Amino acid sequence: MEELAIQTDRLSKTYDGSNYALRDLSIDVRQGEVFGFLGPNGAGKTTTVKLLNGLLKPNGGSCSVMGLSSTLRSPEVHRICGTMTESSKMYGQMTGMENLIFFAETSDIAMPKAKERAEELLKRMDLWDARDKRLGAYSTGMAQRLSLARTLVGNPRILFLDEPTSGLDPESAKSVNSLIDSLARDEGVTVFLCTHQLRYAQDLCERYAIIEKGKLLVSGSIESIAKGARIFIKAAVRVPDRDQLEGFERDSGGWWKTDLLREEDMPRLLKKLVTDGHDIYEAKILKPTLEDVYFQYVRSGNGEVLQ
Ligand SMILES: Nc1ncnc2c1ncn2[C@@H]1O[C@H](COP(=O)(O)OP(=O)(O)O)[C@@H](O)[C@H]1O
Ligand SMILES: [Mg+2]
Repeated sequence: MEELAIQTDRLSKTYDGSNYALRDLSIDVRQGEVFGFLGPNGAGKTTTVKLLNGLLKPNGGSCSVMGLSSTLRSPEVHRICGTMTESSKMYGQMTGMENLIFFAETSDIAMPKAKERAEELLKRMDLWDARDKRLGAYSTGMAQRLSLARTLVGNPRILFLDEPTSGLDPESAKSVNSLIDSLARDEGVTVFLCTHQLRYAQDLCERYAIIEKGKLLVSGSIESIAKGARIFIKAAVRVPDRDQLEGFERDSGGWWKTDLLREEDMPRLLKKLVTDGHDIYEAKILKPTLEDVYFQYVRSGNGEVLQ
C-alpha cells in the first residue's frame, strides 16, 4: 500500500494548558492530492500546519509526513515540507532573484545550482521580467508568487499553503491557484491547503477536512460530505409559466427544483414530466457546492454543528 503523505492521529495542542487549539484531530492525506483544510478564523488550521512541520510539539497524539514523525524535527522532515504562511518573510530590499538564491542557499542548495533553481522558478511563477526588481516594489500578487517560489526552492514533496490567496485581488488569486493546480498535477506534489475561500478550494481540492474550534467536523470528498449532511443533488427544470409544479419548489430565478437521490434518476424524472403533459424548456442537474456543505457544518463561527 502506498504511504500516506500526511497522517495525524488524535493530534492535540494547547498553548496555555487548558484551552485546546486542536483536539484529537485524525486525518489522512494521500500522496499527490490537493487537500483542503477548511475552517473559520481560530479553528486551528495554522496550529495544525506548525505541528506537521515540527515547529510545535503536540500535547497529545501524533503526526507524520511521508511516514516520518514530525516531532523529530529532523532535517529530513524539513526537506519534505515546503511551507508558505501568512507571515513568510522575505527581504524587501533584495530583488526577486536575490531572495530566491538566498533561500536556496539556506536550503543547502549551492551555487550554481541555486541560481538555476531561482531562474527556473521565476519563469514558472511569471516573475522573470521582474527578477531584478526589489521585492519592495512588487505588487501583492507578485510578492505572493515569489513567496510560493521560495517555498518550492528545496523541491518539497508536500506543500503547506496557509491562506495563500488571502489579501489578493481575484485576478492574482486566480493565477496563484492555477500554479498550485499545476504543481499538484504535473509534479505529484501533495498540497495541504488551508483556506476559507471556498470557491477556490472547490476548484482545486479533491478532499477536505472541515474543522472548527480545534475539532474535526467532517472529512472526505465533497460528495461524501454532502451525503453525510443529507444535502442532495437537485434537478432543476424550466417550464411554461405556472403557479405550481407538483413535487417541485420554485426558486427566485424561475427554476423549479427538486431533490434527486442519484444522477441516474434524472431521465426518469424528465420522462414523467413529459408524460404528465408538461413542456420542458430547460433542465439541469445541480450538484452541492462546497459552500452548501461547509455552511451546513459551520455556522459562521458559533460552533454549532447542524445535522
Ligand atoms: N502562539 C499562540 N499562543 C496562544 N494561543 C494561540 C497561539 N497561536 C494560536 N493560538 C490560539 O489557538 C487557536 C487556533 O489558532 P490558529 O491555529 O491560528 O487558527 P486558524 O489558523 O484556523 O485561524 C485560536 O484560539 C488561537 O487564538
Ligand atoms: Mg491561520
